[in-house]
Amino acid sequence: MPHIVIDRFEKINYPVKVDDVEFLFQAENLIGVKTPISKFLIKLQPKEDGTYLIKYDKITRPIISEIKKAYEAIIKLQNAKIIFENIRGIKEKLPNKNLLNIEDDLSDIDIVEVGFGSGRHLIHLAKENPDKIILGIEIHKPSIEQVLKRLEHEKISNVRVLNHDARIILSKIPSNNLEAIYVHFPVPWDKKPHRRVMNKDFINECIRTLKKDAFLHLRTDSVKYFNYSLNLFLDYNKIDIRIKKNIPYVISSKYEDRWKKLDKDIYDIYMINHEISEELKENFDFTFEKKLKNLDFKPKIYNNFVIHIEKVFKIDENRELIRLTLGNFNRPEHLYILNKDKPEYFKAPAPIKENYLAHLELKRLFNG
Ligand SMILES: C[S@@+](CC[C@H](N)C(=O)[O-])C[C@H]1O[C@@H](n2cnc3c(N)ncnc32)[C@H](O)[C@@H]1O
Repeated sequence: MPHIVIDRFEKINYPVKVDDVEFLFQAENLIGVKTPISKFLIKLQPKEDGTYLIKYDKITRPIISEIKKAYEAIIKLQNAKIIFENIRGIKEKLPNKNLLNIEDDLSDIDIVEVGFGSGRHLIHLAKENPDKIILGIEIHKPSIEQVLKRLEHEKISNVRVLNHDARIILSKIPSNNLEAIYVHFPVPWDKKPHRRVMNKDFINECIRTLKKDAFLHLRTDSVKYFNYSLNLFLDYNKIDIRIKKNIPYVISSKYEDRWKKLDKDIYDIYMINHEISEELKENFDFTFEKKLKNLDFKPKIYNNFVIHIEKVFKIDENRELIRLTLGNFNRPEHLYILNKDKPEYFKAPAPIKENYLAHLELKRLFNG
């Protein structure tokens, strides 16, 4: 982790600006930093030998160039000597244009593959549909990295990948946009069904995001998962369902190769959507009207989101920094709120439904 040790640190009169770095406040050992392109926290840790260790806060995770700027500004402001630093040798990771994150716009996506694993089918889709933009969503980071390398190596430019839970991401895609959604060999999660990709919310989101007459393709070797999904689909009346068994597919994934060797049955369900859905009203307002009060530290668990106030750091008589976890039950976000007369997120949550619902509930719970 990039950090520095300096020989002195005297109280700062906040806010203060050094070149284009602004030090906003100090909440116990956390210092708020603003640069022209980012906002983050650094941590100040006095050491026994009278020196000070300075590192960045992982939750606000700035990019290396901005950490470097903040450290340089601190050294200048404190007129300090560097006792140790490991930042000069650290190189900035260049952003990969094929790797999206949850804040990015997804309105140009035509086809989605959920849980692409080794990526054989994703690459096949890209080659078969050179004019379409394919989005692969995968929770397993090594699979993401492996596919990014392959995309670069094969000079494929119409694939985007996103390292997240697909059940959350679909809610960011505009309505009636997709031509196909593929879910091939999802983890059956027989013992933890709540972790299955396929559930009512996910199917609703598939129907909303698919164009009229476009399809969701589920391919599985698990007869239990097949029956479970079929039962879910049977609750809808504006779809057609087509079922196949042991029909070879254009491309065999790593998992499929494995099951074939074991002579397992393989099931396909095609859910064809006939509904034209309403436009997504995505107007997530993450502002607060008044100071949050009567905070408590008990985790609050709801149907599809959680709120957990973890720690409160005092800034002054009227302000504090709240560290909390908020959002989707399976993938909550770690955040800070600057709690004052009109509170604000130090860095806003990603604009997804569960975060917004959690934000509204947070305001209701602690509305003073
Ligand atoms: C059994 S593998 C199948 C991989 C690939 N589709 C194939 O056929 O070889 C299931 C994949 O789904 C991914 N996965 C599981 N749950 C997910 C979720 N909620 N969102 C995105 N990916 C998920 C796993 O990381 C894993 O790579």
